[in-house]
Amino acid sequence: MIDTACILAKSFLAHAEHHTSLESTQTRARQLIESGDIQLPALIVADRQIAGRGRGSNRWWTGDGSLAFSLVIDPEHFGFPRKAVPRLSLAAGVAIVDSVASRLDGHPLGLHWPNDVYVGERKLAGILVEVLPGGQHIVGVGINTNNSVADAPPSLQPSIATLRDLTGRIHDHTELLLALMENLEAACVQLGQPLETLGERFDLLCSQRGEVLTVYQGSQSITGRCVGIAADGSLLLDAPEGRRSLQSGTLKQAGEW
Ligand code: BTN
Repeated sequence: MIDTACILAKSFLAHAEHHTSLESTQTRARQLIESGDIQLPALIVADRQIAGRGRGSNRWWTGDGSLAFSLVIDPEHFGFPRKAVPRLSLAAGVAIVDSVASRLDGHPLGLHWPNDVYVGERKLAGILVEVLPGGQHIVGVGINTNNSVADAPPSLQPSIATLRDLTGRIHDHTELLLALMENLEAACVQLGQPLETLGERFDLLCSQRGEVLTVYQGSQSITGRCVGIAADGSLLLDAPEGRRSLQSGTLKQAGEW
């Protein structure tokens, strides 16, 4: 059970709602914005999603017991521009790392560019940032919390991890959401500041360093060895033609189906 009244009282949110089942928290967020009937920042949480969305055409498996939510913010409130979207995804990743680290009994956490949180070699959480015509940003987050890898579609099982499987216990979603809201607020405040230090965290938490990666940008692909993540959120690859800094693109990722 998620205590939205408690989350509303103890966080920066102006609106919070919890559903047992939704098509997608992203879709619900979009509908609320379009109806004009919502105060920001707003949180929409669902226990189940019938059609959870990932990046591009990917779906998101919302396993029973997992945590799925959308946080709607107005970037103007925090003073960061629209072009900060890639950094917002990574900043949300840092916030997730900071929220789950103390619950993971020392398992190593990292950022997997452009928008995932990994434990070791496996995906723990995915982030999907969508921007609405009015400028509102919807930060969608799916975290494998109290679900189990054993219940996932077979194609996902080798590439995902859950908090419950890793720790052998159930994690309270109200407490976790309180930590997430605090850390997401801090990340948004930092993104709006000129001398923020979030960029250093992107690089420190980069989990792909040393791996040879292929990034797809439309019909083009760039292959190189990952040397980190720049402060502006770009992936740094050492390619045969020299150092490349990639602001966007897709990797073949684990945890997508
Ligand atoms: C990805 O890994 O490609 C991003 C996954 C994002 C999933 C979350 S779950 C809550 C929110 N609602 C959705 O339909 N998707 C995001």
